[in-house]
Amino acid sequence: MGEFVVRGGRRLEGTIRVHGAKNAALPIMAASVLASSPVTLEGVPRLRDVDVMIQVLTALGAVVTWSGTALTIDPTDIHAYVIPQELMQKMRASIFVIGPLLARLGHAVAIQPGGCSIGDRPIDIHIYGLSQLGAEVTEDEMGTQLHAPELKAGTVHLSYPSVGATENLMMAAARIPGETRIRNAAMEPEIVDLAQFLEKMGATVRGAGTSDIRIVGQRELVGVTHTIIPDRVEAATFALAAAATGGHVTLENCIAEHLPGLTGRLRDLGVEVKEHEGDLVEITAPDRYRTTPISLHTGPYPGFATDMQAQFMAFLLKVPGVHIISERVFENRLGHARELRRMGAQIVADQRVALIYGGKALHGAEVRALDLRAGAALVIAGLAADGETVIEDREVIERGYQDLDVRLQQLGADMESR
Ligand code: EPZ
Repeated sequence: MGEFVVRGGRRLEGTIRVHGAKNAALPIMAASVLASSPVTLEGVPRLRDVDVMIQVLTALGAVVTWSGTALTIDPTDIHAYVIPQELMQKMRASIFVIGPLLARLGHAVAIQPGGCSIGDRPIDIHIYGLSQLGAEVTEDEMGTQLHAPELKAGTVHLSYPSVGATENLMMAAARIPGETRIRNAAMEPEIVDLAQFLEKMGATVRGAGTSDIRIVGQRELVGVTHTIIPDRVEAATFALAAAATGGHVTLENCIAEHLPGLTGRLRDLGVEVKEHEGDLVEITAPDRYRTTPISLHTGPYPGFATDMQAQFMAFLLKVPGVHIISERVFENRLGHARELRRMGAQIVADQRVALIYGGKALHGAEVRALDLRAGAALVIAGLAADGETVIEDREVIERGYQDLDVRLQQLGADMESR
């Protein structure tokens, strides 16, 4: 596996364009399985996870091609309904094709994608929801088989506002005549983007972005063109890198309202966050942070995003005071605290709660990216530390960040990949 090498001590300055959202692109790519004609997506980021989704769609029989920044998916000949195990295990988001396959072919096989470093990642809520719409579920040596000669509209109440389960159900419902209702649905911006895509294809979706979503499906959905929304997690990562290095960075293609819980806290600590016309957000770090102790917990949108938690912890290492972070979405998403301690960070953490003693000196070290957001946190810490940090398993970070080294170099970072 490759490495990122980061030499700290430089302020980040300049302008950076935020790419399309990985977590919107993946479900929308999966939703192309529902269409009877080709789909063209603009703004799809060139990421390892996107490559895996392309492999999944190709394995099912779709023809997927890049032309410049546009990704075209022709689902006409989709015939297979088993997701190759090695792809499902490579990327949990492969599960997003289960709902569309069930709606299109009446059959889908999902092997348990398996846990990852941040948690077990079960799919029980996905399976429960699809069974509520008429899928017959059996478990065998291949995995979880779902059969549904005829899915039927219905109401599903999710036990937890799972992003993926909400998306899978929305996609299945988009091809079911009649009204399907999802209660306790996830409310993330990526859900709204998927809803807009499904509406363009011919479904009717009401309430996306709230916990109560109603979908009236059509048997036939047409392929359309769609531009993916900006990646709020990438935006947060760059904003926190600017704040942690005493920098001044303008983010292009950044929707500030997608950053609830982040912009307010940055302002509380003295970081200036200015929203400008045209999806521009300007971040200016203060000479000295306000020593406001920060206490936050992650939660479903519009709570503080779990995908921004590691990066925020890295930033807090620069802010004098005692801060507390409680990770309430995943059961094991504080592993980066151990890696940050190798850099001199003073953090006490168990699996769910971390106490951060900010304002202490950080020094370069050899560290490892445990998951893509933990890896991004190490990049931020490396930029803010004295000396050289070597981050192993660069490919883990590249699952969610395109050309990270090149783009940060453009902001003045002393960083390279090897
Ligand atoms: C999506 O994952 C994102 N991935 C994750 O981003 C993000 O962290 C997560 O939502 C929460 O916001 C994509 O969109 C591709 P969940 P997802 O279902 O859908 C439990 C990143 O860094 N759960 O909302 O898998 C689950 O274990 C990635 O870009 C069940 O118990 O998240 C977790 O504790 C990481 N049973 C919680 O719910 C289920 O059937 C939230 O999971 C489904 C989920």
